[in-house]
Amino acid sequence: MKKIPIPMSLQKKTLCDSSQYEALYKQSVDDPEGFWNEQAEQLAWFKKWDRTFHFDFHKAEVKWFTGGKINVCYNCLDRHIESKGDKTAIIWEDDSGKLTKKYSYKEVLIEVSKIANILKRNGLKKGDRVAIYMGMIPELAFATLACARIGVVHSIIFGGFSYEAINTRVKDSDCKMVITASHSKRAGKTINLKAIVDKGLEGIDFIEKVLVVKHGENVPMQKGRDVWLHEELELVGVECEAELLDSEDPLFILYTSGSTGKPKGVVHTQAGYILYTSLTHKYVFDLREDDIYFCAADLGWITGHSYIIYGPLANGTTTVMFESTPTYPHAGRYWEMVEKYKITSLYTAPTAIRALLKEGDEHVKKFDRSSLRILGTVGEPINYDAWMWYYQVVGNENCAIVDTWWQTETGGVMIAPLPGAIEAKPGSAAKPFFGIQPCLVDAEGRELAGDSEVTGNLCIKHSWPSQMRTVYGDHERFKETYFTKFPGMFYTGDGAKRDADGYYWIIGRNDDVLNVAGHRLGTSEVESSVIKSAKVVECAVVGKAHEVKGESIFVFAILRPNLSESHEEIKQHIRRHVKDTLSPIAMPDGILFVSDLPKTRSGKIMRRILRKIAGGEQKDFGDITTLADPAVA
Ligand code: WTA
Repeated sequence: MKKIPIPMSLQKKTLCDSSQYEALYKQSVDDPEGFWNEQAEQLAWFKKWDRTFHFDFHKAEVKWFTGGKINVCYNCLDRHIESKGDKTAIIWEDDSGKLTKKYSYKEVLIEVSKIANILKRNGLKKGDRVAIYMGMIPELAFATLACARIGVVHSIIFGGFSYEAINTRVKDSDCKMVITASHSKRAGKTINLKAIVDKGLEGIDFIEKVLVVKHGENVPMQKGRDVWLHEELELVGVECEAELLDSEDPLFILYTSGSTGKPKGVVHTQAGYILYTSLTHKYVFDLREDDIYFCAADLGWITGHSYIIYGPLANGTTTVMFESTPTYPHAGRYWEMVEKYKITSLYTAPTAIRALLKEGDEHVKKFDRSSLRILGTVGEPINYDAWMWYYQVVGNENCAIVDTWWQTETGGVMIAPLPGAIEAKPGSAAKPFFGIQPCLVDAEGRELAGDSEVTGNLCIKHSWPSQMRTVYGDHERFKETYFTKFPGMFYTGDGAKRDADGYYWIIGRNDDVLNVAGHRLGTSEVESSVIKSAKVVECAVVGKAHEVKGESIFVFAILRPNLSESHEEIKQHIRRHVKDTLSPIAMPDGILFVSDLPKTRSGKIMRRILRKIAGGEQKDFGDITTLADPAVA
């Protein structure tokens, strides 16, 4: 694959060029302690750390900057007040596109401090867990930072999830409070979030308070438990001291899908996380003081955590928060925003790029995009056509395309072509970030070294500051999932290829995790939801290649006997059930009723075969299975 030269407009103008990248990377690997000590000086510390890092992958132990005292919220807000208190920190645009709100660093600090005072007033203290469930409104960012300010551990639940997701997550981390909004708005639709929360909290008696942001009409409030944010705001002061926290105190829990039905509570801690997210944000987006940076992800995912709020604000950047979708009310929404706010950097997912590509170039071209310099992508492999469209049509061949590979577990970007330093190859995430030592291993865990092209399991050899520290409440699962298959390394779950130039090409998950429109879902999560629809006795879920979403959900199900409805009615019922209880994202595209599922002798479902059937590659199953109606596949 040919390299795309660095656009002329960026040459010699970026934070680092190729020789600086090579030198810094070398230093970060040869002398990680020296490198990270130097980088960590850029944060504001209440007390300096004693030890830079200590890790033992055999024991699943990871620690950074122990002995240090720090506050992430202080690093994101307070320390900027003197030099840029009046600079815009957050630009928020509502669903309709008619309303914009801008908050300066000073204003964000006040909003955050007030909410932190409300949390304290309601009995929350350092170490308590709070679930946050709302759409992309400014209060979501404020509430998140308010937790960080007082050492309360937030667990943001994506606003597109349904009540079961709330129920299991709130229970798993024993939350004391839920912060939500009356409604969320997306693409002209209004969703009654509070009603979903009420249903999600049924049978849970340990939630002390539900704090509700009014975003729409009034909603019923449960006496003694539910409080309105606007009423509480009247009762608190505008100042709240930032808590002195240990580097390794937990900052947040974010649930992500794994290969069992139960999502994992990924735990990130303070200092390492904020150091790594701010450093990657700076270099990956080649940050400049007057940048207007727009990450179009949702705060409910790790991309939103690290690159809408924490990284950008720690760097004193103006970050854009967007309530809507890329195609509402028209397919030029992103580019209209680029023109309106003079956005310099855009970060989105291949699925959005593919959806917009299909809508035609005219939606892009009618808006002025000359402010754009960096175009980022994340969440799934980007295909050549989508990459080229992003580069040629959106970026006019003037922008760097940064394909960033990373995970909820990694906290920040691990592999990416730094603008101006690494020539891109469409579809490749290119080279590791400073301090990251990726390697490919075969099934036996032998490293595939050398300069020739190799394909294997993607592992990381050395710890990095924003590595996840544990699975909440289940350290054994942390160890088992990431450190057991290939001892002494962190196993990412992805397969990848490294070419002769040392560029990494991510192939995709090697485990039972699906990636639907950039959203991570476990096959067994979807399976248990399908089973709970009460129409099937057994099922197996696999991913099927999809032109826009990357992967779509395909279900093989064995029906319960003696159902009176038609197959079509049952399919509708299953789809609705999955949508209402789990998430609209998880709704199956294809459902095939079968009389049996292909299994190994030990009873494991042979997903590889099912994937082939779903993809139409395999029609003839021979003796392997007794699928009821293979022709439908
Ligand atoms: C996939 C999202 C190819 C990968 C930040 C990973 C990618 C999973 C890329 C993590 C990329 C992420 N190219 N695949 N640039 N970025 N992935 O936890 O399979 O939601 O393991 O984190 O997304 O998804 P997660």
